[in-house]
Parts: sequence; structure tokens; C-alpha cells
Amino acid sequence: MPHEPASAGFSTRAIHVGQEPDPRTGSVIVPIYQTSTYAQDGVGGTREGDYEYSRTANPTRTALEEALAALENARHALAFGSGMAASDAVLRTLVRPGDHLVLGNDVYGGTFRLIDKVLTEWGVTYSVAHLSDVDDVRAAMRPETTLIWCESPTNPLLGIADIGALAEVAHAGGAKLVVDNTFATPYLQTPLDLGATSSCTRRRSTSAGIPTSSAGRS
Ligand SMILES: Cc1ncc(COP(=O)(O)O)c(C=O)c1O
Repeated sequence: MPHEPASAGFSTRAIHVGQEPDPRTGSVIVPIYQTSTYAQDGVGGTREGDYEYSRTANPTRTALEEALAALENARHALAFGSGMAASDAVLRTLVRPGDHLVLGNDVYGGTFRLIDKVLTEWGVTYSVAHLSDVDDVRAAMRPETTLIWCESPTNPLLGIADIGALAEVAHAGGAKLVVDNTFATPYLQTPLDLGATSSCTRRRSTSAGIPTSSAGRS
């Protein structure tokens, strides 16, 4: 099936995107490629998909990532072994020493500890705001703010944020908005459509055992 997320329904995208029948055997389910390395036809001569080492890319994981990107209306998705691994990767990709972040007052505890105990050691500062109050978030912005980290609904208090309005606040301040989309999942909410740069979705509990992803458009 062509990669046309906009024209297909959610279930169709979940089942078909990235999951074409295996060209060699016709298997309709993507095989589990249990390999670490891939034979090359000469030096640098990778075959279809450009696979060389499974830590960096593996066809089974590619199928999952393409399906997740389609569900989030994203250009790309990356799958991780845990939600915190995805959050850590997003934060360390987007944040640099000297940057300031704005967090929700009831952000997930693991995310708070990652920022408060780890990123601050590297010269990152943060402020806490009530994400359901756009003016409170706007007031927390500083010239060096590069990121608003939003959960909606939040864990644990199930607070709701206006993602589109927070995206406007972020962009007006030259910052990015990242949404931890764990609870709503892309079935109910697609943060990238509302102006977020990246959407993190945790699927271990919400979608029966598949890993966690981070999707984005940039
Ligand atoms: C909102 C939210 N973000 C991130 C996480 C972390 O996910 P994981 O436990 O897979 O690392 C959780 C876990 O409960 C969560 O609720």
C-alpha cells in the first residue's frame, strides 16, 4: 500500500503502512529479522533498505516506525525500548547547555527527574507552569527558552492543555513544543497537526506490548 496517511483511515494505516508482503516469500506479516549485521555486496555495498547493523536499523523495526509515523501524521518515527528512552532522545536532540525549558506542574515523574537531576547538570534550566493556563505558560517563557514540554492528558492528574495555543506560544518565543502523547495516543490526538515539533507515544500499556516511539516532522 502506498504511504498515503492522509487518505486512509486509522485502522488501515495501522495495519498496512510499512507492512507490504515480504517480496521474497510473500509473507503477509513482516518477518522478525533476528540479525545484528547484514552482508554487503562489496565495501559499502548495502542492499535494499541500506541496512548494515541492527542497532541503527532493522527491517522489522522500520515497518513499525513507518506505521507509527503514519498514525501520528509524521514524516518520521523512531521506536525505542521504553518511554523514557524516547523522551531522553528527544530532549538530548533538541536541548543544549544554556537552554531553558518550560514543563507542566504535574509532568510525569520520570521526565521530571530526567530534566531536574540529569539535564540541569549539563547547564539546562527549567520553569514549571500550569499547562492548562496558556497565560501562565507564556509568563514562564524566557529569551533562552527553546522548548515547552507538554503532556496532555497529564500523568497523574489528567490535566488537559490546549496544544495548538501552546504551539503558538512556543513559536512566538522561537521555541519548540514537544508533546508526550502517552495517554491520548494518536488515535485521539495528533499533536503534530496542532503545531508540535515532536510527539512521543508510549505503547507498552496502551497498545498491547509494542515499544514506544517518538515521531516528528523536522
Ligand atoms: C506520560 C508518561 N510519559 C512517559 C512515561 C515513561 O514510559 P516508560 O515507563 O515506558 O519508560 C510514562 C510511564 O508511565 C508516562 O505515563
